[in-house]
Amino acid sequence: MSIKAATLNGVATIEIARPEKKNAITQAMYQQMGDAFNAAAADASVRAVLLTGQPGIFTSGNDIEDFMQRPPGNLESPAFVFMKALMGCDKPVIAAVTGAAIGIGTTMLLHCDFVYVSDEARLAMPFVSLGLVPEFASSLIVPQLMGNARAAEKLLLGDPFTGADAVEAGIANAVLPAGEVVNHARRIAERFNALPPGAVRETKKLMRRARAALALETIGVEGKVFAERLQSPEAKEAFSAFFQKRKPDFSKF
Ligand code: COA
Repeated sequence: MSIKAATLNGVATIEIARPEKKNAITQAMYQQMGDAFNAAAADASVRAVLLTGQPGIFTSGNDIEDFMQRPPGNLESPAFVFMKALMGCDKPVIAAVTGAAIGIGTTMLLHCDFVYVSDEARLAMPFVSLGLVPEFASSLIVPQLMGNARAAEKLLLGDPFTGADAVEAGIANAVLPAGEVVNHARRIAERFNALPPGAVRETKKLMRRARAALALETIGVEGKVFAERLQSPEAKEAFSAFFQKRKPDFSKF
């Protein structure tokens, strides 16, 4: 079981738990995460969702082997099912970023309501170095949040950044000592037990309304390019290099 889901005291916790592969997410795990989000949304006893990883690692992103064997080809693939469930969740989603958050690990944070980051964590969106492109509206939201110049460092160069940078950019709320990040996020989630759920739900919806249509349209466009890029010789070279533990050679392209 690589995704653990449990509800306690009004908070549904969804935990990525595959530490031996640095919490890389497979298609089966996306499906489990999507199902867990939908179950939390449907459960009236749940007032907020807590999304977290393992000590020292939030997630290393999409499982690269899975990418090669079962490339997501359309909007029904498990990664889309998961992101649709996350983006459509009408309850507050609080992320506790326990360590590195790479690729979709950072992208998913753009769609959470509160993000708390361990002081040991690094975020990164190294899509270009994998021969890929940004996904799930990150090409829209990242420049909107931090401006084009800083977005170019993150999306074109794939530069990693700290929790403090994420706070400055408006992606995260606060940086906390590694041992405290999950408990802090849980305390924020539990505050929703004392708030009226209808007002919370409607406010969340209103906060997202203006950019929802554009985000969805962007996801469709990105998804098409992403699927093409997955089949590209550049991506194949990047993936092979990762598993051969060598630097990729893009000089021939
Ligand atoms: N997909 C598949 N396997 C992955 C993975 C991923 N995204 N990330 C890590 N792993 C595997 C490694 O292949 C390794 O497997 P092995 O023990 O069978 O060799 C294991 O997890 C441990 O990873 P390792 O790289 O040795 O750990 P590290 O502590 O040195 O580095 C990371 C951790 C997260 C910095 C590094 O694994 C990494 O950069 N991963 C890829 C991140 C990425 O590009 N994700 C974007 C996908 S779109």
